Amino acid sequence: MRKKIVAGNWKMNGTQEEGQKLTSEIVNMVKDEPVNDVTIVLNPPFVHASNVKKLIGDASNIFLGGQNCSDKASGAFTGEVSAPILASFGASYVILGHSERREYFKESNELLTEKVKQALENGLTPIFCCGEPLEIREAGTHEAYVKDQLTESLFGLSEADFEKIVIAYEPIWAIGTGKTATSEQAQDMHAAIRAHIASKYGQELADKISILYGGSCKPSNAQEIFSKPDVDGGLIGGASLKSRDFVDIIKSF
Ligand code: G3P
Repeated sequence: MRKKIVAGNWKMNGTQEEGQKLTSEIVNMVKDEPVNDVTIVLNPPFVHASNVKKLIGDASNIFLGGQNCSDKASGAFTGEVSAPILASFGASYVILGHSERREYFKESNELLTEKVKQALENGLTPIFCCGEPLEIREAGTHEAYVKDQLTESLFGLSEADFEKIVIAYEPIWAIGTGKTATSEQAQDMHAAIRAHIASKYGQELADKISILYGGSCKPSNAQEIFSKPDVDGGLIGGASLKSRDFVDIIKSF
């Protein structure tokens, strides 16, 4: 049985007070309301890590994650945060290859290969992002585009390492736009991703990989998207900053 995962990507949002309030509300809501064996990941800006980890406390199904990590383990890289540092603050997951980092910070598939290695070497589960821009979708080459992202960044991994990966499909044209992919579009791409993984690592391993959907996922559309056979949860941006919305998405399975 694949893990059902809902991860909240706070992006560059949340003062210390706002982060504390949001985390406390989520933790208390999850404790008070059944969430059907869902793995929940909170991915705040790095500076919140220690406080969020403390507020998560003994909540067994809520985990701390990072939004990125360096491709280096340590050194003179001002402003960067390494996988060892993230892990030392109790992080269990790390988002890698988000489209905003690929665009604004020019992260290549090759660089992401190194970041994935750093995460795995330090016991962090990569939430590896892929997804096409609108022009690629409109050209009808979106499956090939996403398959190339996975091939170039991940297909050098051993079977044992690949099995640790979580994939997040985030069509760029749906991120922050309110224009959510239809559940059929999500299912089609998730099935194509799983088939591509199977072509390299076999169907048994492919069937173990959680593939999350991201891109304007809200309480109003989450249930339909999560009902699809190859959708195993969501990577949530804007809605993860509102505790009620985020928990309602978690309860959408
Ligand atoms: O990483 C998740 C994010 O890219 C999706 O953002 O605001 O469309 O849910 P949003």
